This record gives sequence, structure tokens and C-alpha cells, in this order.
Amino acid sequence: TIINEPKRVFRDDHLGGEGVDKSIRKLKDLRGIFKDERAFENMDPETLVYEVISYLPVKEGTQGGVYFGVTSIFPGSVGGEYFMTKGHFHAMIDRTEFYWGIKGEGVLILMDEQRRVWAEKMFPGSFHYIPGRVAHRVANTGKELLSFAASWPSDAGHNYEEIARNGFAKRLIDINGVASLI
Ligand code: 6PG
Ligand code: NI
Repeated sequence: TIINEPKRVFRDDHLGGEGVDKSIRKLKDLRGIFKDERAFENMDPETLVYEVISYLPVKEGTQGGVYFGVTSIFPGSVGGEYFMTKGHFHAMIDRTEFYWGIKGEGVLILMDEQRRVWAEKMFPGSFHYIPGRVAHRVANTGKELLSFAASWPSDAGHNYEEIARNGFAKRLIDINGVASLI
């Protein structure tokens, strides 16, 4: 019996073929998420902050399906607040997710519906379970690209509005070279 090549290869942040979606987030797409608005306005709005390459084998909203994505966040900060993802609850709020670190250093920031915040370090090989009803955001605290993989149910969806409106209850700031959740 012939042993086939895998249908897809994921290597060095590359994932190709049908069903693969790439989205990029520039600073101008992240207006309002960083505290220091003046620092934000003084930066180039075209600065690339992160990109997400997702393999979406079934239609969004399908029950019982699973998605896979790799997020890469560039190093940088806005007034000392590290470059980070927008952050979201899932639209189907009880949907869970796995994250795992591939390269670089960062912090996964989590917040429940009571706005209690906690965080976990991310590094190559770090593994994270995100329970349902918990908002999630990742910040790159290192000097290199931070890349992590994620897998989530295809019916989870994204609710960005809640975070856009009220943010997270804590921010990850560089204080004298130390990442501090305040
Ligand atoms: C998801 C994952 C993950 C996330 C990206 C970008 O539910 O799809 O949590 O793929 O979307 O890391 O983060 P934002 O979606 O918060 O911009
Ligand atoms: Ni998610």
C-alpha cells in the first residue's frame, strides 16, 4: 500500500492551498486598543502588527468542525504597551480553544465575564487551554517575532465588540524592561 504525502505541510509559518485564509492587522486596524493614544498617533499607521494564516476546511459556523491557525505578532510597542492581538470572546461564548507557542516570547492574557484577568507565559512548546466564556489576547513581549498555533471549533465565531468597547481589565506594559500586567 502506498504511503501518501500529507495533504498539507505546515513549516516556518507557511500553510498553503485551498481553504487557507491570510489576514493581516496593521496599526491602523487597531485604533483604540492601546492606552497611549498620542504614541499611537505618532506611529506609522501602516506598521504591520500581526498576521493570521488559518486553515478553514469547512464553512464558518459548521457544527462539529475544527479550525487551525497560526498567528505571528511582530515585536514592538505603543507607548510601552506591547504589540498584541485585538482579543475576543467567541461569538458562541462557551466555545473553547487550544493555543501553543511556536517561536518567540509572549503572554496570553485571559479575562472571564466578571472581568477577572490572568495570564500565561508563551514560548516555543508552551501549551494553553482556553476555557469557554473567556476572552483571549496575546502580546509579544520579546524582541523577535512571536508565533503561535491555535485550534478552535468552526462554530465558535468571534465577538470583537465587547473588547472594542470595554477592553481588558488589565494591560501588559513594559516597565523598566519587565512585562507587567497592570
Ligand atoms: C480564534 C483564535 C485566533 C485569533 C488570532 C488573532 O478564535 O480564531 O483565537 O486565531 O483569532 O490569534 O487574534 P484576534 O482574532 O483577537 O485578532
Ligand atoms: Ni479565539
